[in-house]
Amino acid sequence: MSSFEDKVAVVTGAGSGIGRALSCQLAERGARLALSDAAPEGLEETVALAEAAGGEVFAERVDVSDRDAVVKHAHAVRHRFGAVHQLYNNAGVAFVGPISETSYADLEHVMAVNYWGVVHATKEFLPHLVDSGAGHVVAMSSVFGLLAAPWMAAYDASKFAVRGFAEALRAELLAARHPVRVTCVHPGAVRTPIIQHARSAEGEDMAAVQRIFRKIAVTTPDGAARAILRGVRMNRARVLIGPDARLADVTSRLFGSQYERVAGVTAKLFVPSNNK
Ligand SMILES: NC(=O)c1ccc[n+]([C@@H]2O[C@H](COP(=O)([O-])OP(=O)(O)OC[C@H]3O[C@@H](n4cnc5c(N)ncnc54)[C@H](O)[C@@H]3O)[C@@H](O)[C@H]2O)c1
Repeated sequence: MSSFEDKVAVVTGAGSGIGRALSCQLAERGARLALSDAAPEGLEETVALAEAAGGEVFAERVDVSDRDAVVKHAHAVRHRFGAVHQLYNNAGVAFVGPISETSYADLEHVMAVNYWGVVHATKEFLPHLVDSGAGHVVAMSSVFGLLAAPWMAAYDASKFAVRGFAEALRAELLAARHPVRVTCVHPGAVRTPIIQHARSAEGEDMAAVQRIFRKIAVTTPDGAARAILRGVRMNRARVLIGPDARLADVTSRLFGSQYERVAGVTAKLFVPSNNK
C-alpha cells in the first residue's frame, strides 16, 4: 500500500523552499494536501504548483507561532478532509548574530516559530493522527540540532528543542503503542531562500552570509523533500540530509562535548560576522 496515495498531509511553511518541494512531491504521489504559510503570496504559488501536479489542496494563511490560529487550522483541516494522516512541521526562520548582539525579541521570535510552531501543530493534530490509525509526524530540526553553530544560538537552541521534543514524542508513542510514527529531520545547507528570509543582529554582513551559503548549499529543495518522504516511507527516526549533515553527525559523535572548539575555529573561517 502506498504511504502517500489518498493520505491527508498537512504542510506548514508550504510557501517556499523545502515546504513547497514537499507539497509538490506529495501531490505527485496522490496525497490530499492541507497547506499553510504565514506569507500568503508564496502560499498561492505553491497551491498552483501542487494543483498542477494533480493534488487536491486546501490552503490557509497560518502563523504557526499563533496557537489560536493553529487550533482553528486543525479543526478546519479535519472538517475539510474528515481525517489527517501526516503532519510536516516545516515552517521555520533563521537568525544570524552573536548572543551578545541578539535581542530578547529576536531570541523569542525564533523560538516561537521554530519550536512553539512544532509544539502547537503537533499537539493540535495528534488526536487526528491517532484517529487515522496510521499517522506520521515529521519535525524539521537541522544540522544545527546535532551541533550548535556559533553566531546562530537562537536558531541552534530552537532546533535542539525540536529534536528533543520529537525524540520524546517518538518514545512516548512507541511506549503507548499509538499508531503514530515520528521522524526528526536534520538537513545540512539546502539551496532555499532561507537566508534571504532570515533576520540578523545589527552589523551582520548578510550579503556575505548569503554568498557563502550559496557556495556550501549543495542540496536542492527537491532532493531534501525526496529524502524526507523516503524517511517517512521507511519509518526512519532520524533523517540526515546532505554530506554536511552526515559530517556533523560523525563530528558530534567523535568529538563529544569538545566539538565546540572545532566549531568555533571552523566558523571563524567562514562566518563574516562583524561582531566576532
Ligand atoms: N535551507 C536550509 O539550509 C535548511 C537547513 C536545515 C533546516 N532547515 C529547515 O527547513 C525548514 C524550511 O526551510 P527552507 O529552507 O525551506 O526556508 P524558506 O525560508 O524557503 O521557507 C520557510 C517557510 O516558512 C514560512 N514561515 C516563516 N515563519 C512562519 C510562521 N511563523 N508561520 C508559518 N510559516 C512561516 C516562510 O514564509 C517560508 O515560506 C525550516 O524549518 C528550516 O529551519 C532549512
